[in-house]
Amino acid sequence: MAPAAALLLAPLLLGSLWGLSAAGSLLSRFGEHVQEAQAELGEPSSAREGWLWQPLDPFNSSDRRSFLQRYWVNADHWRAPDGPVFLHIGGEGSLGPSSVLKGHPGTLAPPFGALVVSLEHRFYGHSVPPGGLGLEQLRFLSSRHALADVASARVHLSRIYNISASSPWVSFGGSYAGSLAAWARLKFPHLIWAAVASSAPVQAQLDFSSYNRGVSRSLADPAVGGSPKCQRAVARAFSELDRGLSEGQEARVALRAAVRACGALEAPEDQAELLEQLEGLVGAAVQYDRQVGAPLDVSGLCHLILANRSGGPLSGLRDAVQLVLQALGLPCLPSSRAAAVAALRDTRPRATGPGDRQWFYQTCTEFGYYITCQDPSCPFSRRSALSAQLQLCARVFGLSPASVAEAVARTNTYYGGQSPGATRVIFVNGDIDPWHVLGVLRAPRPSEPALLLRGTSHCSDMAPARPSDPPSLRLGRQKIARQLKVWLREAEALGGSS
Ligand SMILES: *[C@@H]1O[C@H](CO)[C@@H](O)[C@H](O)[C@H]1NC(C)=O
Ligand SMILES: *[C@@H]1O[C@H](CO)[C@@H](O)[C@H](O)[C@H]1NC(C)=O
Ligand SMILES: *[C@@H]1O[C@H](CO)[C@@H](O)[C@H](O)[C@H]1NC(C)=O
Repeated sequence: MAPAAALLLAPLLLGSLWGLSAAGSLLSRFGEHVQEAQAELGEPSSAREGWLWQPLDPFNSSDRRSFLQRYWVNADHWRAPDGPVFLHIGGEGSLGPSSVLKGHPGTLAPPFGALVVSLEHRFYGHSVPPGGLGLEQLRFLSSRHALADVASARVHLSRIYNISASSPWVSFGGSYAGSLAAWARLKFPHLIWAAVASSAPVQAQLDFSSYNRGVSRSLADPAVGGSPKCQRAVARAFSELDRGLSEGQEARVALRAAVRACGALEAPEDQAELLEQLEGLVGAAVQYDRQVGAPLDVSGLCHLILANRSGGPLSGLRDAVQLVLQALGLPCLPSSRAAAVAALRDTRPRATGPGDRQWFYQTCTEFGYYITCQDPSCPFSRRSALSAQLQLCARVFGLSPASVAEAVARTNTYYGGQSPGATRVIFVNGDIDPWHVLGVLRAPRPSEPALLLRGTSHCSDMAPARPSDPPSLRLGRQKIARQLKVWLREAEALGGSS
């Protein structure tokens, strides 16, 4: 859940779901910034780019249309031809060479002699089928299509690289792609031997009000520099903002200047847009807490919010906005709902970064994940209601609220929600990450372990290790490696039926 990204070097963490419906939102830009920074760490090396022909409609064999799907390969450490294959599955953004070089699975490859392959998700990055992002085309975008691509890629890549039939394949992914990694094992156990699912929100949810409960809890968490005082100050800033917006034109003009809004704040929907952007800013500071490239973390935000008592509760928020806009290179805070809708309606694909329109389509047709503020612990404006987000599915794609609700229920029936029932999947979550509540947090059986890492944010386990990593994260990475060892030894003992 994070909107927007770019660059030659593609994101390391595909995982960056952005929950806010507003396209090009601050949360999105924030996630993009984190991904770019992490992709730039270290030196480029021997990643090779390749392309696979994939059927546009894998479920209809009389439809002969196809498209090119991009993949990356790093064969530096591979014990050919029967070493394991680590398959990094892409999510809602473009995928670059760092996806096979850094973080896991790149880091885990050497001791296992693994071939590392990554697969860009259809309709994102350079893997957009001919015809762009029109509604007719988007019918072929879903997690089920993406999983069919994984199955077919496994077959094709095995042939291209002469991979032995006994090589075990392990799927990896973070965020939405973490769910895909788990589901690839669930739906194709004969093709995928095991999976590492990082920060995977496997439970689809229409009204994701618990996201903001998580934000609130993390703002109060001393483990990351939060405090109950900080949490209360954030809530006060937002209620002051909300009050100011309804007070009168003069107050709105002053507020616009204070938070550097791009446009006037007279229309209620533009006010809602601004509030969502600001909520996204706070949410991003929590979600990407202490990650390389994050312009603001919980401790920094709390510091700003509590620093200037004389300026009132809003002054800290104003300082946070200033800092983040500057870091992201934005002149002002987007506040036009019409502009947000126009961006979501734009059917031209972007070759780099996340696909806001595509991901929004997937929320309307599969996952929901609409972040609202109906939970009593939500520190933000109560204006964030589900109905407004659902209206956007109707406005952009012509999908009714009832159809969105049905789609979310179908997704959970199809994949099993938080009890997916797959074996040999390790689920990894961080307790600071507001997404973790939709993940698998407790091991349902020994073959399906679950780690909940203390003081850790979204997909942190996938990022390259740093000296400043909390002990729980370091330990978590060791546990992942140990578990893989056990599973790969099992494969070996079987003579490797994968
Ligand atoms: C399958 O593809 C053919 C050829 O494009 C098309 O005529 C047909 O309507 C498709 N069937 C479904 C169920 O989409
Ligand atoms: C795979 O094997 C074939 C025939 O043995 C060989 O020509 C080809 O170069 C091999 N491909 C790779 C990527 O090693
Ligand atoms: C505190 O806030 C007031 C009012 O917004 C402002 O005039 C002042 O410069 C701020 N002080 C600091 C140290 O930021």
